Amino acid sequence: MKITVVGGGRMGLPLACVFAKHGAFVTVSDINQVLVASIQAGISPYEEPGLAELMADLHRAGRLGATTDTARATSESEVIVIIVPAHLTSAREIDFSILQAASAEIGKGLRPGALVVYETTVAVGGTRRCLIPVLETHSGLKAGEDFDVAYSPERVKANLVLARLGTTPKVVGGYNAAARERVVALYSQYLGAPVDDVGTIEAAEMTKLLGMLYRDVNIALANELAAFCEVAGVDFERVRLSANTDGEANLLLPGIGVGGHCVPVYPYFLTRESRRLGITQRLSEAAREINDQQPARELERVAALWKPLSGQRVHLLGLGFRPGVKVDTFSPAYALRDELRQRGAQVTMEDPHYTDQELRQAGFEPGAAEAAHVVVLGTAHEEFARPDFAVWRGAGVEVVLDGRNFWNQEAAEAAGLLYFGIGRASRLERR
Ligand SMILES: NC(=O)c1ccc[n+]([C@@H]2O[C@H](COP(=O)([O-])OP(=O)(O)OC[C@H]3O[C@@H](n4cnc5c(N)ncnc54)[C@H](O)[C@@H]3O)[C@@H](O)[C@H]2O)c1
Repeated sequence: MKITVVGGGRMGLPLACVFAKHGAFVTVSDINQVLVASIQAGISPYEEPGLAELMADLHRAGRLGATTDTARATSESEVIVIIVPAHLTSAREIDFSILQAASAEIGKGLRPGALVVYETTVAVGGTRRCLIPVLETHSGLKAGEDFDVAYSPERVKANLVLARLGTTPKVVGGYNAAARERVVALYSQYLGAPVDDVGTIEAAEMTKLLGMLYRDVNIALANELAAFCEVAGVDFERVRLSANTDGEANLLLPGIGVGGHCVPVYPYFLTRESRRLGITQRLSEAAREINDQQPARELERVAALWKPLSGQRVHLLGLGFRPGVKVDTFSPAYALRDELRQRGAQVTMEDPHYTDQELRQAGFEPGAAEAAHVVVLGTAHEEFARPDFAVWRGAGVEVVLDGRNFWNQEAAEAAGLLYFGIGRASRLERR
């Protein structure tokens, strides 16, 4: 089986490697020449556990190639899997332009009998309305007659891609019965995960968005309840754990903000489309707003209870949006920085996964907690787990805002720091 994976990103490249590991001859096609050269050399460009070793093995075995010529790779493949990004426009509408550009190139090389599978998260109906016509126009072929199309959302996440690709059920939907049969066979044989055929392309598109909305709404609920607990004198984390033992509840963690490619973005794919169809997703829209406001809300809490942040030196811990990950797409660190600057604070940043130069490129001044008045934990990186509160206090730190409830409140307070956690009453809030 010859497979072309279009988009050799953090998701596409490991996926391509897994196909190859299961016996396919795989070509990764990407517009990034540096990335293509790295794949051709068998060198992993990403910090993804297990990827470097797997790529080295596949390179030795000659099972993984790379190119910038999507049309050509497509013309030599029986299956084409597309996993390039779909971003949001400034008006928070889904931007299909990257997907359409990739589809046009695929269309130019498409052979009769090929199977095209989209994995990129899109709005429900997007594949049929905005992508299949591009394939048809550029190939002169007809979907469902001359070639097959299916949709299968990618549901794993960075740093756990190889760990989860073989175990997370692979949701699929097809243009017609023949496409469904082919896509089920593809993933059963070359991914090794259980395959969950939900029927249509639209059902598969919706499955991914449901997962995202569930998380966003659940986190927003946790954030609102946590805000209540801060003034009610109840430790939210303590009661969350207990509430979750009733066999029904599964409340997620509150926090100082939601980041990443997925949760801050994909809910809009559904809420915007839903509005167009005359059905407002009030809860989902409110959740997005609550979670977006979380960084500013927590800073306002500190400013209102302690003192205004103007002129204060504030040190942020964590640019990556998730612990242990060097990915800062929509990281709450950006919202924290902007809000702090707007309030007239001086902001510095520290993240063990980024060099000082990379931090500067991202718009942050590198610094150290000891030089700050306020330390804000944005990411629960392991390296931040055991701060020496006494040293911080001795150096002049007055306040810690623990945005992930990662630290021990008593220890911080015993060292003389004013501690704020999410859903934990600070000394100034306790009655
Ligand atoms: N990153 C995640 O955690 C995650 C999780 C689940 C699903 N996904 C899905 O996977 C998609 C891709 O995510 P990612 O993290 O791999 O993105 P990424 O930004 O790491 O990689 C995307 C790749 O696509 C390439 N590309 C862009 N335009 C192209 C074109 N016209 N032709 C060929 N290649 C092109 C880019 O050069 C880049 O290498 C997301 O949009 C999302 O739908 C991502």
